[in-house]
Amino acid sequence: MKIGFIGGGNMGEAMLAAVLDKGLAAPQDVRVSDISETRRRYLEEKYGVAAVSDNLLAAGNVEVVVLAVKPQNLAQVMADMRGQLKDGQLVLSIIAGAGISTLRPGLDHRSIVRVMPNTPARIGEGISVWTATPEVTGAQKKWAGAILGAMGKEIYVDDEGYLDMATAISGSGPAYIFLVIEVLVEAAVGIGLSRDIAMELVVETILGSVHFMQKSGKTPAELRRMVTSPGGTTAEALLKLEEGGFSDLLIQAVSAAYDRARGLGANKSAGSGGDGGEYD
Ligand SMILES: NC(=O)c1ccc[n+]([C@@H]2O[C@H](COP(=O)([O-])OP(=O)(O)OC[C@H]3O[C@@H](n4cnc5c(N)ncnc54)[C@H](OP(=O)(O)O)[C@@H]3O)[C@@H](O)[C@H]2O)c1
Repeated sequence: MKIGFIGGGNMGEAMLAAVLDKGLAAPQDVRVSDISETRRRYLEEKYGVAAVSDNLLAAGNVEVVVLAVKPQNLAQVMADMRGQLKDGQLVLSIIAGAGISTLRPGLDHRSIVRVMPNTPARIGEGISVWTATPEVTGAQKKWAGAILGAMGKEIYVDDEGYLDMATAISGSGPAYIFLVIEVLVEAAVGIGLSRDIAMELVVETILGSVHFMQKSGKTPAELRRMVTSPGGTTAEALLKLEEGGFSDLLIQAVSAAYDRARGLGANKSAGSGGDGGEYD
């Protein structure tokens, strides 16, 4: 498969590395365009791919064109590429908040896959939710599935609306988990553990709990009850969490992220730009 990457930053590099690692494309079949010369040199040296400054050069004569620039650079990229892609080419966009209703007219191209990946993709443990326009062929869907599968798990959905929901769970989710880790470590240090031991206890507890749940086949509620004896230490902690509205707050946080994701999509469709955050 020949692939052109528009934007070779964090996520572009993650995808490029995964594609090469899984043998989906050979280095000579991969081209990357990036406005940063330092970045281009780095990608050429590390991966042996051709890195160019001209987006059209990266997108020409390839089967899949990956859009991996920040949202605020999308207008420029669409201006460069509008009407220049061939019918048989697949565009795969990971740009947060850029809906198909923006990409299709902006590029004047019909075959588009839109993806919501997440950062663990950088170590091959991501999860991507993706959808495709009706013009995307079965073979192109297989390419998309293979490219995204190289970065972890992938889930195809036939309604673009699910991408906004995925944004609030798997897209933003790593930040929720990192915050939980940070706070638990601080709490552990607060009651007297050394920072090193605190970090190890927190990380291993999270990893072990998730693997235990997956392997045991039990629900999280069942497993939670197993560690919660009446009147015991866990019960005391859970009571405190509920008094502080923990569950309700988490539900509100997800809902706020979802509203924001939908708002971004609507704003983009109306033609306004994002302001630069990861999911803007
Ligand atoms: N990181 C994540 O966790 C994550 C998750 C889901 C989705 N995404 C989406 O993935 C996209 C890429 O994110 P990222 O973290 O990889 O961003 P990034 O590291 O900033 O990478 C973007 C790269 O594109 C370059 N660039 C800027 N304008 C360009 C242009 N006109 N033509 C070609 N290259 C250009 C940038 O160069 P300069 O740095 O010199 O501007 C940078 O090297 C974003 O749209 C984001 O919404 C990211």
